Amino acid sequence: NWSMDDFIDMQIDKIREKVGDKKVLLGLSGGVDSSVVGVLLHKAIGSQLTSIFVDHGLLRKGEADQVMASLEGKFGLNIIKVDAKDRFLSKLAGVSDPEKKRKIIGNEFIQVFDAEATKLNGMEFLAQGTLYTDVIESGTSTAQTIKSHHNVGGLPEDMQFKLIEPLRTLFKDEARELGEKLGMPSELVWRQPFPGPGLGIRVIGEITEDKLEIVRDSDFILRDEIKKAGLDREIWQYFTVLPGIKSVGVMGDGRTYDYTVGIRAVTSIDGMTADFARIPWDVLQKISVRIVNEVDHVNRIVYDVTSKPPSTIEWE
Ligand code: XMP
Repeated sequence: NWSMDDFIDMQIDKIREKVGDKKVLLGLSGGVDSSVVGVLLHKAIGSQLTSIFVDHGLLRKGEADQVMASLEGKFGLNIIKVDAKDRFLSKLAGVSDPEKKRKIIGNEFIQVFDAEATKLNGMEFLAQGTLYTDVIESGTSTAQTIKSHHNVGGLPEDMQFKLIEPLRTLFKDEARELGEKLGMPSELVWRQPFPGPGLGIRVIGEITEDKLEIVRDSDFILRDEIKKAGLDREIWQYFTVLPGIKSVGVMGDGRTYDYTVGIRAVTSIDGMTADFARIPWDVLQKISVRIVNEVDHVNRIVYDVTSKPPSTIEWE
């Protein structure tokens, strides 16, 4: 009779036995899986764990602070936070092709992580938040190749680590349950899936700081209203995108010529197929009014009513 408490005890024993007195490195992305691995490992081996958290400047509003406050502040993990925003943005300047953007972000990520990891001495193990679904997907030829998915935490090339993957037998919902059992806050445990390239693929085309700010601020309002409406656990992903088009509007006595923000919200089981979420009109209206009022340079909101297929969840 399998319970999550047994799983935790078993994993802790296993980790201690495997690691002994050696050191473990973890790449934290801010997502559910790596965070749960961090808390579990910290419980098992305490200060023998060092985590690296690369802030590529493409995270959601408040996200980096939240991760640090919770994992470092509350749980006491030793986290090296690397602020690499300028480096990423300068590499991305002038690039508008989605796959090129993904490659740049993925490559930079590995380089930054590698550079930090190299500075640390004596790391023998690398921990990863691999789930059962990741194991299955990477082992079959049906793995999605429509977009090149760069998951964060690539292995530094010239470093030889032994892997620790304590979530390998778990599905996402079990990883969440594990996180809750470990006392992690629900904002972290129930976080919606977030792509490795982050907001970099939600600013359509060329990425600029101004555009990132519009996506970040509008996304924050969307998340706030979805949560207030109690829809945050039933919608798989919900976010805003900036298509980059401008259109004419009227505000006060004046004509405006400003950006359109798109709202994307889908229900899904695994992200492979998805249906657009039927968000109630009055909730959409609140979101729309707030974004236009509170975010500069936005005068129009559109709602994406396509499913996957034929669309994808992300716009890029
Ligand atoms: P699409 O847009 O292909 O997305 O329908 C399916 C799921 O994958 C996420 N996604 C990514 N995740 N790196 C990631 O780690 C990526 O480059 C990437 N692109 C899409 C997307 O958010 C959705 O959950």
